[in-house]
Amino acid sequence: MANGQETSQTLRPTWFEIDLGAIRHNFRELRRLVGPAVAIYACMKRNAYGCGIVPVSKACLEEGAAGIAVGSANDAVAMRIGGIHASILVYPACLADAAPLFERHDLIPTISTEDDAQAWNAELTKPREVFLKVDVGLFRAGTMYNQADRFFSAVKAMPKLKPIGIYSHFFSYGADQSPQNYHWQFRNFEEVIARAKNVGMGGLLYMVSSTNAVLDFPQMDLAGVDPGRLLFGLGASATGARSGTFRPALSAFKSRIVTLKSTGPLRLSEYRPPIPVRDNMRIGVLPLGWGDGLPRKVGSAAAVLVRGRRAPLLDPIHLEHSRIDLTEIVDAAIGDEVVIVGRQGAAEITLREVVENWGIDEATFHGGMRDHITRIYV
Ligand SMILES: Cc1ncc(COP(=O)(O)O)c(C=O)c1O
Repeated sequence: MANGQETSQTLRPTWFEIDLGAIRHNFRELRRLVGPAVAIYACMKRNAYGCGIVPVSKACLEEGAAGIAVGSANDAVAMRIGGIHASILVYPACLADAAPLFERHDLIPTISTEDDAQAWNAELTKPREVFLKVDVGLFRAGTMYNQADRFFSAVKAMPKLKPIGIYSHFFSYGADQSPQNYHWQFRNFEEVIARAKNVGMGGLLYMVSSTNAVLDFPQMDLAGVDPGRLLFGLGASATGARSGTFRPALSAFKSRIVTLKSTGPLRLSEYRPPIPVRDNMRIGVLPLGWGDGLPRKVGSAAAVLVRGRRAPLLDPIHLEHSRIDLTEIVDAAIGDEVVIVGRQGAAEITLREVVENWGIDEATFHGGMRDHITRIYV
């Protein structure tokens, strides 16, 4: 049992290395691209894309973020407990019964519909700054752009709601990356701004652009932007409209060999085990499994680095363990560092290689970075 002397590495030697310098660099690149006048709300959804909301948000705020935007009140509260006093915008994530929590922690709720406006106005004890959300083509949260008039008028009649901004989020995932997709949605947002001005809601912070649009459509910056992936080195321009060098926030995903043995002779002529073991195969075991975000099957090309060489990572992955084939790495020993993503000596396994083997993309990997795994900031 832990006696307080052990480090998290002793308890479970599997960890992420997060490069805060890369995140700061990415923020500065973003600032260079959008210029000094645009407010940057750093989108730190899913515990800062798995990188740890408190240190990452602090870094972005020190670099000049106007605020932090999150997709869950848990992350917002974690920031307050972590000593962050900046503006925190919470995307639609809770019901109005969370109003006391928003008041206690001074959080900015998103009001998405007329019903929402009524409920928050009833639950809040005093006036609170809020953001309004409209839907310009994502078909998720927010009032449809073509019904914004009524929504804005309803909000205006609510004495406890003090709108400071109106935002939306583009449909930017999946097949339709055509400029028409963005232009259509942006036109819808321009219509929303006109409607807001018509009902006397001019001069608010209008915000619609995140990673893809920031890189590809500079004219869509408006007064504020709220990119997420780009800050973690997960964005790339499709049109070349803006180019920046964005570095990966995840510099390594590592573990250690906790068991190492040889199978010895197996009498395989009598029985074939369900996994491809061989006589005298040397198997290493890692404290790392599908409970840590790996898929159950990593694919036949999956490998890790041990002593600067590639060792196959073997299917299937178990809940908290996995196997590697160390037969060829004869000097491998218990306790050796194992690199799942990152460099070791001259060798490297990139996140791209890993996600290709797993059949996912890099942002999905970040979304699956589990909070129980130790994060080391480098
Ligand atoms: C409302 C909102 N704004 C901004 C973002 C950040 O998007 P991206 O990571 O593409 O920059 C998201 C991501 O899901 C979002 O939901």
